[in-house]
Amino acid sequence: MQKPEVAGFYDPRTCSIQYVVSCPKTRQCAIIDPVLDFDEKSGTTASTNATIILDYIEENDLKLGWILDTHPHADHFSAASFLKAKTGAPTAIGQHVTAVQQIWKDIYNWHDFACDGSQWDRLFCDGDTFSIGELNVRVMHSPGHTLASITYVVGNAAFIHDTLFMPDSGRPR
Ligand SMILES: [Fe+2]
Repeated sequence: MQKPEVAGFYDPRTCSIQYVVSCPKTRQCAIIDPVLDFDEKSGTTASTNATIILDYIEENDLKLGWILDTHPHADHFSAASFLKAKTGAPTAIGQHVTAVQQIWKDIYNWHDFACDGSQWDRLFCDGDTFSIGELNVRVMHSPGHTLASITYVVGNAAFIHDTLFMPDSGRPR
């Protein structure tokens, strides 16, 4: 069983854990579920969380290969597009994000919102595989928290995000 290196970055505002998973041999890595900070009182965003993650990647001599979301988040913005602009690494999420986008488009009356998942570079299907260095990654569709949720299985680790919650932590909504 392959053993990735895993670092977790806790965001206290959303009780959310962001991850960097890396291949110990090649130093290739992926970021999973990065948070773009949002201040609802001023309506401004910030990249404090994303910058901490980028600093970790640089300090540990890692090479970023993927920016991954497990699902569209209702309690925070994804920092995926910010990180892509900074690094050029491709972004990805599960293919059923398009159905969630359609729901949100209707709720928010957002007529010109593109509901085709084009905000990400790749839309993963159940059973898709890819690699992070020498680590094999398998994508599992794991609906429940959202109908688009996917799990990334990387060696002996599975990144499930809000598919399960720790007791007394997190915000399922
Ligand atoms: Fe969530």
